[in-house]
Amino acid sequence: MKPFVHKLSISIYLIIILVTIVSLTYIGLSFYRLPIEERFYSPLYQQLKPSGFFGHGLGILGSFIMLFGLFSYMIRKRFQIFSRIGVLKYWLEFHIFMCTLGPIMILFHTSFKFGGIVSVGFWSMAIVWASGIVGRFFYLQIPRTIEGRELSLLEVQEIKEKLDIELLEKYNINFSEISTDKISHLKSISKSISGKDYRKIKRLIRNEEKIVRRIARLDKMKNLFNYWHFAHLPFALIMIIILIIHVVVVSFWLGYKWIF
Ligand code: HEM
Ligand code: HEM
Repeated sequence: MKPFVHKLSISIYLIIILVTIVSLTYIGLSFYRLPIEERFYSPLYQQLKPSGFFGHGLGILGSFIMLFGLFSYMIRKRFQIFSRIGVLKYWLEFHIFMCTLGPIMILFHTSFKFGGIVSVGFWSMAIVWASGIVGRFFYLQIPRTIEGRELSLLEVQEIKEKLDIELLEKYNINFSEISTDKISHLKSISKSISGKDYRKIKRLIRNEEKIVRRIARLDKMKNLFNYWHFAHLPFALIMIIILIIHVVVVSFWLGYKWIF
């Protein structure tokens, strides 16, 4: 994917999420702000209650979007036969988008009223969502290939060596010598080189510093990321089990059918 197309897709994701939050709030704010006992008398009650046409629809659509974002990523990541369909890190961005949009719709489906066993499912979903943000941070700390595969320490060291060589051969700069006082070193060489080269050197040094920092904490981050999966996954599982029970109870026991 070209950088422009990538930026465009992220912007579209953000716009869809913002438009959804703003329009759902605009439509229902006066209803959601009412105390539970007064809601029944609101003209919006029939539409916006969790079993109403709009509220129920949000529950179904939101759950579908979230589960699609979840399983599409898992399938793409785990099954070799799908490895050619798109780059994994873009699938993760799609996962984050769908698993944010879906829970927002589900939040409006509950009409901000949490009761019964399904509230455990709701809070599990909230925990998975929040832990996702922490996991995304760890994920970004681990150097990867463009495809999204984690690099080994050896591979990261090779990248550092390449940067070392580029700085030395092209600009006669030894990274290990300048790393203690970069600013004054850069200032001193800035007089003898063009502005374009200066910017290039600055970028190379910044990249190398980033790599050095990442090498220093690579093991720690990989361990933390592995442990993190043990928090993210079980809550996702609890949420799915309760979601299945909830759907069975409301559809088969209580008999809510939405439009079907
Ligand atoms: C993770 C997804 C979901 C969560 C967290 C969730 C959560 C909730 C909550 C908190 C309530 C209100 C309970 C109360 O009145 O105290 C509710 C009601 C309801 N939900 Fe969901 N829901 C989800 C998905 C769905 C789906 C997919 C359907 C469609 C089958 C659905 C259909 C309903 C219905 C019909 C009610 C009204 C039940 C009643 O008034 O007794 N929900 N849901
Ligand atoms: C309620 C919504 C969410 C659910 C149910 C969910 C569920 C999952 C599951 C089950 C996995 C494991 C996939 C696998 O290893 O095959 C996963 C991975 C991941 N999720 Fe989520 N997620 C949600 C939201 C988020 C959010 C909002 C973010 C980030 C802001 C996020 C970031 C991640 C990351 C970084 C991974 C690890 C990717 C990897 O190891 O390859 N998730 N998610």
